[in-house]
Amino acid sequence: MSTTVVEVENLSFRYDKRLKENILSNISMTVDQGEWLAVIGPNGSGKSTLAQLLVGLIEADSGKIRIKNTVMDDTSKWKVRRHIGIVFQNPENQFIGTTVQDDVAFSLENLNMPYDEMKFRVDQALDLVGMSSLRHHDPSQLSGGQKQRVAIAGILALKPSILVLDEALVMLDPKSRRELLTVLQNLKRKENISILSITHDMNEAALADRIILLESGKVKNCGTSEQLFVAEPDLEPPFPELLRRELLKRNRNIPNEYMTEEEMVNWLCKSRLTV
Ligand SMILES: Nc1ncnc2c1ncn2[C@@H]1O[C@H](COP(=O)(O)OP(=O)(O)OP(=O)(O)O)[C@@H](O)[C@H]1O
Ligand SMILES: [Mg+2]
Repeated sequence: MSTTVVEVENLSFRYDKRLKENILSNISMTVDQGEWLAVIGPNGSGKSTLAQLLVGLIEADSGKIRIKNTVMDDTSKWKVRRHIGIVFQNPENQFIGTTVQDDVAFSLENLNMPYDEMKFRVDQALDLVGMSSLRHHDPSQLSGGQKQRVAIAGILALKPSILVLDEALVMLDPKSRRELLTVLQNLKRKENISILSITHDMNEAALADRIILLESGKVKNCGTSEQLFVAEPDLEPPFPELLRRELLKRNRNIPNEYMTEEEMVNWLCKSRLTV
């Protein structure tokens, strides 16, 4: 049976308490241990606000957040943060160390970890994000994508059981992004970590077990990528499904149902044989 590690119940929030209108209204959702949940939605729909609430950076006006069975409040949030790590879109202000490796190690220093364990974790995290060769560089002098990778390494070194990524892969070049997505898939599979990834990239969202669509601060829909992209025809679907819809319009003899990448590849291989 799966264990729920994030439980959000009727969460509402507004930045300006004088205004009546909520930024998030009655959000309810869950994430299971080892589950990958994508959060999508237009600009301003409240995705980053939700992420900040989940890690206790801001406080809800009503509703409840439970992380690993602990209700998030002012006192419990420090304990909760040991389980949940977040990487933001813009890593500019996140650096403390004077070298890349010091910066990644810094996140571990408060944990009173033995030196050998710390070194092992820093080496492993830098390796996972492909930054080992730049470990002695000054993080402030790295490129945007390199900074982002160091920020991700800092969080991975902490080995959180829940990882929140707020458009954290946006700065990465396509190859690095693909590599990092594979790293995340492996962490999920081997270490059973839960991932909540906020993204505008529908191909990335399609890798998730489930997708939540936010609109104007409310949950508009939630389901597997197939359920969601079929139920929401106005959403731009992942590339294989986009291609299938185009082929269908051109009267190609293609199945009239949602296709994953694998299904599309199989169909293309098969249909090529019979052309
Ligand atoms: N610090 C803030 N103070 C006041 N209003 C804010 C603040 N941050 C965000 N907002 C407002 O809250 C709403 C939701 O913003 P949020 O950043 O959560 O959206 P988002 O879904 O992450 O958008 P994007 O896709 O552009 O990142 C927007 O209307 C935004 O203007
Ligand atoms: Mg955002």
